[in-house]
Amino acid sequence: MRPLIPFVHQIDTQEANVWLAALEILLPHCDIRLFSQLSEQERAQASIAIVANPRPDELTQLPSLKWVHSVWAGVERMVAELSELPFDIVRLVDPNLAETMSEAVLAWVMYLHRDMPRYKAQQATATWQPRPYIEPVERRIAFLGLGELGQKSAQRLRQNGFSVSGWSRSLKNMDAIQCYAGEPGLTELLAQADIIVNLLPLTQDTKGLLNSDFFKQLKSGACVINFGRGATIIEADLIAALDAGQVSHAVLDVFEQEPLETSSELWSHPGITLLPHISAQTSIESASRIVASNIDNYLDNGLMPQVVDKKRGY
Ligand code: NDP
Ligand code: OXD
Repeated sequence: MRPLIPFVHQIDTQEANVWLAALEILLPHCDIRLFSQLSEQERAQASIAIVANPRPDELTQLPSLKWVHSVWAGVERMVAELSELPFDIVRLVDPNLAETMSEAVLAWVMYLHRDMPRYKAQQATATWQPRPYIEPVERRIAFLGLGELGQKSAQRLRQNGFSVSGWSRSLKNMDAIQCYAGEPGLTELLAQADIIVNLLPLTQDTKGLLNSDFFKQLKSGACVINFGRGATIIEADLIAALDAGQVSHAVLDVFEQEPLETSSELWSHPGITLLPHISAQTSIESASRIVASNIDNYLDNGLMPQVVDKKRGY
């Protein structure tokens, strides 16, 4: 009998069908079905599920689950809602996603490095005012988070001539990248940074990390890029830092509430460039290959992919 793998999701039906079609081709020896199509008896059989923003109450109806594979890289909501449940969580680790993120980081660092927000404002007032050119090596880009996405992005900026630093929980050793860890490390990193790039997961430790104390430690006029999660920044503190000139510009791709409410003052703040969570979109084609390969390895050889540390939160 083919192993039955439920696809448990709260995404658009059309998108769910694209996932199903891709996974069915890659896992022909498995019976992959929408959760809603399964009888109670069938639900009792499933030991693995593939999930896209799943409803916790649906997962509790799969009593034999050993692990679930999320098709997203960030799993903070699952960790918050499911950590009491007895199965493991596997998140998406996709080199293609890291490549896409590194491209976005390079694009928006270049946007800030070449003063595009200022030139755009000058255009609006027909102001002809060249600004001095600064070489990339004179700009220090500081990464918060040196994981799958942070490391790849840091390396890409280094290849483009920037001075690069990074901060993580455990100290890294990376070629030509100044690495820091822990609280004293963060203070040192912030004091030198011209552009901060946040690629931390959202956890109890990182929630609200970018607050007024954090912004005070930056050089006056530094910029911030947030491609991690919205709740890592205290929005009101960021706005105060922008208004005081402590931060000169912020590029925000992620928000505590998405889509961002139309009434949010972030939309119209002149110091903010706002993006609709697009810095690194999952490619169904490459992600489904990774999910399928992890499931095959488990079914054929009993090898578990790396699981999320529920206590640590990522
Ligand atoms: P990883 O788990 O691979 O890396 C996380 C990094 O953050 C690690 O270096 C880790 O340190 C560090 N870290 C975690 N907690 C702390 C802490 N308290 N203090 C210091 N460092 C810490 O994650 P990814 O790189 O794959 O993804 C990062 C995040 O990016 C995701 O969680 C998600 O929220 C977001 N994302 C956003 C997307 C978008 O389109 N905007 C797309 C995909 C993901 P250590 O190495 O020591 O463990
Ligand atoms: C993800 C994201 O976590 O798109 O994959 O943010």
